[in-house]
Amino acid sequence: MAHEEYVAADGGWIRPEILSDPALYEMEKERVFGRSWLLLGHVSQLPEPGSFLRTFMGEESVIVTRDRSGAIGAFLNACRHRGFQVCQEDRGTAHRFQCRYHGWVYGSDGTLIGVPGEESIYYKEIDKRRWGLAPVAQVDIYKGLIFGNFDPDAPSLTEFLGDMAWYLDVMLDRREGGTELLGPHRWRIAANWKVIAENHCGDEYHIGFAHGSVFPPDLGPMRATPIPGAREIRPGLGHGLGVNIYPDEMKPEEWLNSGINSAPPHVVDYYVATHDEMVQRLGRQRAHMTLIHGAVWPNFGMVPIVNSLRIIQPRGPHEVEMWSYCLVDRDAPPGVKAWLVAQSAASFGPAGAFEQDDAGNWAAVTKTSAGNMARKIPLNLQMGLGHEERSDRFPGELGLTASEINQRGFYLRWAQDMFGSNAA
Ligand code: FES
Ligand SMILES: [Fe+2]
Repeated sequence: MAHEEYVAADGGWIRPEILSDPALYEMEKERVFGRSWLLLGHVSQLPEPGSFLRTFMGEESVIVTRDRSGAIGAFLNACRHRGFQVCQEDRGTAHRFQCRYHGWVYGSDGTLIGVPGEESIYYKEIDKRRWGLAPVAQVDIYKGLIFGNFDPDAPSLTEFLGDMAWYLDVMLDRREGGTELLGPHRWRIAANWKVIAENHCGDEYHIGFAHGSVFPPDLGPMRATPIPGAREIRPGLGHGLGVNIYPDEMKPEEWLNSGINSAPPHVVDYYVATHDEMVQRLGRQRAHMTLIHGAVWPNFGMVPIVNSLRIIQPRGPHEVEMWSYCLVDRDAPPGVKAWLVAQSAASFGPAGAFEQDDAGNWAAVTKTSAGNMARKIPLNLQMGLGHEERSDRFPGELGLTASEINQRGFYLRWAQDMFGSNAA
């Protein structure tokens, strides 16, 4: 089987060429980005009929619209005449998109509604019903997040998210009013998308080393010691995350005032004041949990501990465009939202203290993986292999922090999507 040349059957090693090979990247466009549910945006970005946003699915430009009836749809941003991009704006409000090349006009539901010269030069013979914008085959929403899938036969979004949804609720469903997505910041990184996604889904190991400049210099053995109460969790299906779990008797103000969580009094007060609502909505177990980092297969990364959500937009085998958003409770006071945005930008924005360390490392890994010799030499992902645990309190499999349980799940999902292996 071809996949066994690239990813070990137990996920314990990968060949670095999968991080740099142009032919594999071309396959990923169809087998990964052509068949997976990809994050498109958030309902808060489309507040009224006519609202639209422009994004990407893989490298393909897509428009997401709310039409006159209020329904959310997604379409390839490609005119059916010569393929020009009919939408040139990132976001806005419009019920009509007029192509700038020859002037065909489309409605917010994708239908072709106007063709210059329809009578005089097309002899009224063009069947406009057949030449609307190509719809993205499936669009669905999970608690405010809008996803699209090019594959009409792909399993439902619910099935795709699986047990990951139970954890996503911790950030998406704290409050009745739901959430709001602010941003994005966008910047380029000279790295393969998988190097970045696997870091988001499972790499706690690097934190004490790569981010040493952000932490106290005397971490010493703490750098590689499992953190009590924190776990890596593999919900399956290629998704992964790390969580902090607080004892029942601990009060939210205690964990809100520790580590990089520490927040000013008005932010702590907000979370303390809304804690009971969270307990009511999600139960004590999830209300006593914070998500640290995570990724939804394939390229939806997150650092929820600083409210950062990111779409890792691939731009060839050796480059990505990072789209980094801040997710906030919609009904949080403006002062709380403002602090959260500033915190997420200062840590994981384009000049963020953490992001700067990470981007350099991801680019270095990608560069090495393209070496004629180095690309064939396996890389080790064995940390915690065979020591995965189950718990009746948490869906999925658990590893220590640190463990490479999630990176193995990520690359096994890659092998499954690319080569149909059942190893995942
Ligand atoms: S390419 Fe759009 S109208 Fe010709
Ligand atoms: Fe990092």
